[in-house]
Amino acid sequence: MTSPATPALARFAGRTALVTGAAHGIGRAVATRLHAEGANVALADLDPAAAKDAAATLGDRAVAVECDVTDAEALERAVTAVVEQFGALDVLVCNVGVATGEGFDALDDAAWTFQLEPTLHGTVRTIQAALPQLLTSAWGGAVVMTGSVNGLAAFGNVGYSLAKAALPNLAQNLAVEYSATRVGEGQRPVRFNVVAPGTVRTRVWDDQDPDALVPLYPMGRVGEPEDIAAAVAFLASDDASWVTGITLPVDGGILAGPALAFQERNRGPVD
Ligand SMILES: NC(=O)c1ccc[n+]([C@@H]2O[C@H](COP(=O)([O-])OP(=O)(O)OC[C@H]3O[C@@H](n4cnc5c(N)ncnc54)[C@H](O)[C@@H]3O)[C@@H](O)[C@H]2O)c1
Repeated sequence: MTSPATPALARFAGRTALVTGAAHGIGRAVATRLHAEGANVALADLDPAAAKDAAATLGDRAVAVECDVTDAEALERAVTAVVEQFGALDVLVCNVGVATGEGFDALDDAAWTFQLEPTLHGTVRTIQAALPQLLTSAWGGAVVMTGSVNGLAAFGNVGYSLAKAALPNLAQNLAVEYSATRVGEGQRPVRFNVVAPGTVRTRVWDDQDPDALVPLYPMGRVGEPEDIAAAVAFLASDDASWVTGITLPVDGGILAGPALAFQERNRGPVD
């Protein structure tokens, strides 16, 4: 199976989405997908030139917002700018993650902070900044966070993985706290879900060949950003209107088990 082409859906017509880490890779593909389905899209990133470029490629209904998710005030400004521009905020995609790749023995305070701060606290901060607007969304708000298979099993990169592992629990807690039975008078519920990608061909793999990992993937290929964007769009849309607090692996089957893929490549049984 190849990656999904952009379908003729308009699930986000009239809605506004804010996507963080949207200048490159998965975030850019998510912004592109939501925009193709009719959303007004704000592409938030700490790389303003690339974010502007990505927004310009989309054209009407797309704006770039300079924003570092480690900066609460910058996030407040970004949300204000989006609401001034488009009048509302209905969908939030928290997509920033930073990995440095050292082993556990080298995970010192600096490496911990460097990864946990944007990946976990940045996600918390982004949701805190956007929540007041999401709670007033005419459709009910939707938040999708980009987790990782690294947060669901041992794939190394332990600092980054710990940050990603917290996101499913964050989604569960917030799913309950901001559900239809709990929100206040005049507020709409907000759904919170996580996508957990496996290896996705983005610039983070520029110094390694992601296809070297294909034998780990039962589906015989690594992911493309569009694979993740399709899942994010589903979770953010009304097609998932009864889905909240879940983590959806989008991983070519790697969590289902790589053993058969190894066997097929004549590497022999693994047990
Ligand atoms: N590529 C993969 O194999 C893979 C696998 C699983 C999960 N993920 C996750 O997917 C997400 C996107 O990764 P990607 O591969 O597209 O990476 P990428 O480097 O292509 O894109 C990440 C974007 O985030 C921006 N960014 C980084 N720090 C930021 C900050 N503090 N504030 C605002 N923007 C910031 C970058 O400028 C960049 O535009 C991350 O959360 C990553 O952990 C990626």
